[in-house]
Amino acid sequence: MALRDAVLAWGEQHLRALPWRQTRDPWRVLVSELMLQQTQVPRVVPAYRRFLERFPTAPVCAAAPQGEVIEAWQGLGYNRRARSLHRIAQAVTERHDGTVPNDLDALEALPGIGPYTARALTAFAFEGDVGVVDVNVARILSRVDGSPMGRLKMQARADELVPDGRGWLWNQVMLDLGATVCGRRTQRCSECPIAGLCAWRQGGGPDPSLQAAIRTRPQSRFEGSDRQGRARLLRALLRGPVADEDLAGVCGWPGDEDRAARVAAALVGDGLATRSDKGLLLA
Ligand code: ADE
Repeated sequence: MALRDAVLAWGEQHLRALPWRQTRDPWRVLVSELMLQQTQVPRVVPAYRRFLERFPTAPVCAAAPQGEVIEAWQGLGYNRRARSLHRIAQAVTERHDGTVPNDLDALEALPGIGPYTARALTAFAFEGDVGVVDVNVARILSRVDGSPMGRLKMQARADELVPDGRGWLWNQVMLDLGATVCGRRTQRCSECPIAGLCAWRQGGGPDPSLQAAIRTRPQSRFEGSDRQGRARLLRALLRGPVADEDLAGVCGWPGDEDRAARVAAALVGDGLATRSDKGLLLA
């Protein structure tokens, strides 16, 4: 099929050499996928190496206190993912003898693993022929099709495109094509191997990927946000407990006790912190 051949030929020239592409170890692939979910590749590369030096296997991670896992996650943001990874490591250790299972249903039954991560593991650790659909791939598929697609149609289309026995390479190339050529705001159609097969390129009109079920939701500013206060508070908690009267100052909002209390309550709700008689404490 012309589209498959063109994409694979492009991949031979352009596939990026990334550390998680040099392994099939499912634990390493899992760590990379969770990190890549909300953080850009250049920030993930050093964090990935550091994290795996400290936690080379799921059982090693499972045995560590949660605080150490969160500490090793610093710099990546969205610390809920660190807690999620720790819980996955514990579930894998308890249910599967420390080995990440090669089975979509068993993967999706793990805490915090959804359809995306289960398929990414199947393709990138076990070389299975499933379509991996993140926002980048969804953007390509909806533009090529010329229509925004719902989740089911998108997944079916992605699955049927995978060339037999080449699930690993196909999906890695699609991710790179989405990240480097078929960008959300910048489209380098003159460099795109499938521009001639792309309905949006041929027909014009509004960008169909903006209406697709799987699409980027623009992130709000970090500066001055609750996320910023939350990150400051978590960093302080890594050094020790924070008394209630210090919360607002630590968050960077002196005088705004209510806002700091809300952020603290959210950290507790997410299982990252607990309350004690010394104040807030890392969970
Ligand atoms: N984003 C999600 N998974 C990825 C991968 N394996 N390589 C590059 N970017 C990704």
